Amino acid sequence: MLQLVEPEELRGALLAWFDRCRRDLPWRRTEDPYEILVAEIMLQQTRSEVVATRYEGFLERFPGVDALAEAPVESVESAWSGLGYYRRARNLHRTARILAARGRLPASAAEWAELPGIGAYTSALLASRCSGESAPVLDGNVERVLSRFLASTEPPRRAAPRRRLLATAARLLDPSRPGDSNQALMEVGSLVCRRGRPDCGVCPLAPGCRAFRSPGLDPRALPVAAPRRPREVRHCFTAVVHRGAELLLHRRPGDADWLAGRWHLPTVELASGEESSRAAEVLGREFGGCWECDERAVLVRHAVTYRDFLVRAAVARWRPGRPAAGRSSLAWFGHREIDELPTSSLLRKTLDSVGVHCADPPIHSGP
Ligand code: ADE
Repeated sequence: MLQLVEPEELRGALLAWFDRCRRDLPWRRTEDPYEILVAEIMLQQTRSEVVATRYEGFLERFPGVDALAEAPVESVESAWSGLGYYRRARNLHRTARILAARGRLPASAAEWAELPGIGAYTSALLASRCSGESAPVLDGNVERVLSRFLASTEPPRRAAPRRRLLATAARLLDPSRPGDSNQALMEVGSLVCRRGRPDCGVCPLAPGCRAFRSPGLDPRALPVAAPRRPREVRHCFTAVVHRGAELLLHRRPGDADWLAGRWHLPTVELASGEESSRAAEVLGREFGGCWECDERAVLVRHAVTYRDFLVRAAVARWRPGRPAAGRSSLAWFGHREIDELPTSSLLRKTLDSVGVHCADPPIHSGP
């Protein structure tokens, strides 16, 4: 019969491994809750190598909750550039305003979870790191580590396996250092229990790991993937209008279902099969003014999670007219200014595909 070490008995080995092997990352050198908050929000959807290039600069610009709360949201968005998913910057700013007005930090995971942009995962991580609460976390790395640890053959995002993984994560937490235990599990996922190359020989959890200890079970086969969500195809048309070194951009509504709140080239959705020749009319309805689009549109493909955006993009001319029904926010920007705006990788991709650079000569004589 397979003898497995219980999770509670592995707490010490996990922390000892973390103390010895962890990467020296700037957000691990601080115990300041504000600095931890900023790091964990940045790390939500951005790889740590990228966060490491932005984190300290952000803290120099906004050294505490009050400094962040007092800053205009645009300057926070601009300091966020390079990290993507700008909604996080706006939520962090709102959180700072709430905390500054309150004059105290949340005391529990439940209280952290009431703040904008802080869900179950981040609230547990913050409570464990900032106030020593034994709140376990599951991110993609921890899901992989624990699915292998339990040799679970169910997709880890399903409710029942998720509960089992969380219960095991809780058993691995050392109540005297829960924040480090959580980070240690994530670090095992990053450095040891890697997707395609697990290094079981050095893993502090190996004595309790079912996948490692079961002959014939290959840890690389776990976790099992959930059935794929069917992909959704969206057809769009993008107008690339420039005026000398300036480009015409549009700030997308905060509740848009993609590129929300971001500055992007004026873009409309067309029905599947609808001709590009209809684009000028749809652009006029959406943004106002008079549009004329070059017939030579290029196709730009952009995949976001389960959606494929098929964007036809063409150089266009625009003459302002009566504004559209109250929602258009078009503005001209020079390319240096664009670098400071919350945009997306699709903007550069589209400009490169169309072959337009901001310094190209003007193609229209409008205002
Ligand atoms: N991912 C998100 N936050 C992390 C942290 N504090 N340590 C390691 N990985 C993380």
